Amino acid sequence: MDIVVSGIRSTGNLHLGNYFGALRNFARMQHENRCFFFIADYHSLTTHPIPADLHGNVKHVLAEYLACGIDPLAATIYLQSDVPEVTELYLLLNMISYTGELERTTTFKDKVRNQPDNVNAGLLTYPVLMAADIIIHKATRVPVGKDQQPHLEITRKLARRFNTLYKSECFPEPEAYNFGEKLVKIPGLDGSGKMGKSEGNAVYLADDEKTIRKKVMRAVTDSGPSAPGQKMSEPVRNLFTIMGFVSQPGTVQHFKDQYDDCTIRYGDLKKQLAEDLIIFIRPIRSRIEDMLANEAYLARVAAEGAEKARASAAQTIKEVRELIGFKPF
Ligand code: TRP
Repeated sequence: MDIVVSGIRSTGNLHLGNYFGALRNFARMQHENRCFFFIADYHSLTTHPIPADLHGNVKHVLAEYLACGIDPLAATIYLQSDVPEVTELYLLLNMISYTGELERTTTFKDKVRNQPDNVNAGLLTYPVLMAADIIIHKATRVPVGKDQQPHLEITRKLARRFNTLYKSECFPEPEAYNFGEKLVKIPGLDGSGKMGKSEGNAVYLADDEKTIRKKVMRAVTDSGPSAPGQKMSEPVRNLFTIMGFVSQPGTVQHFKDQYDDCTIRYGDLKKQLAEDLIIFIRPIRSRIEDMLANEAYLARVAAEGAEKARASAAQTIKEVRELIGFKPF
């Protein structure tokens, strides 16, 4: 039985990339492991320090988590900001993190490039907070995508360093976990790259039918195959990839055959893809709406999750304080 921790920042609604990359697996693993899933609302402030509607964003992500099948009776689901022990561990870990190693992190360098006017200290210590999120529950596994590997490396390093410096075996070194599958990458609708909220190329779990149709019909393609067996361009391959996740195998094959014999009409492909996306997303969206309408339920889930998460975190913090040498008078 593993202890699993994973978080999602509350900076935007969740999309199909989040779903196939992580969320659908969260629901699958919650029964065999001790799982902690949380909403990284503090982390969201590193890029969005003055959020227009922090509470609304958090509520939406919570509803989306639940709509994707996370069961608050099986897993612990909570808000990062509800567990002050995490911030205490973050402070303590900052003392054994070196500015040099944080500055060298590729994700930090990317952020500096993306937001040169807001290179705040929270951005630099983002991986330290993430390490605290993870080791506060003594996690052994962290289901994250490839983009988070540098952060997980720092987490492992800090866990190791803490153990060495304070002569203990307090923290296991958590491993990235990819469900025994290849890491899936859901492409966006704009012809290249992965689906992402900052890319503006995403289909959201909360998108309605009209929005989905509009987005798919606008997706980038090419001028069509001109010879049988012609290699697919990236934009067209991407549409087929998405189709592979939401359509029947026979449907995908049908359009592949048409591509191969050059009779394909991208308009038809897109219409079919849009309808299959709608069918796929409809039940999730409807559950999101049900959750959002049920404030009392969300409040109860968050309160119970916070209580369970704090119980686990408090144990670790007690041990950590003793190891460092804090003592009551
Ligand atoms: N950095 C992660 C992301 O952007 C979110 C995150 C914060 C996280 N703390 C975490 C993920 C702890 C896993 C474990 O996706």
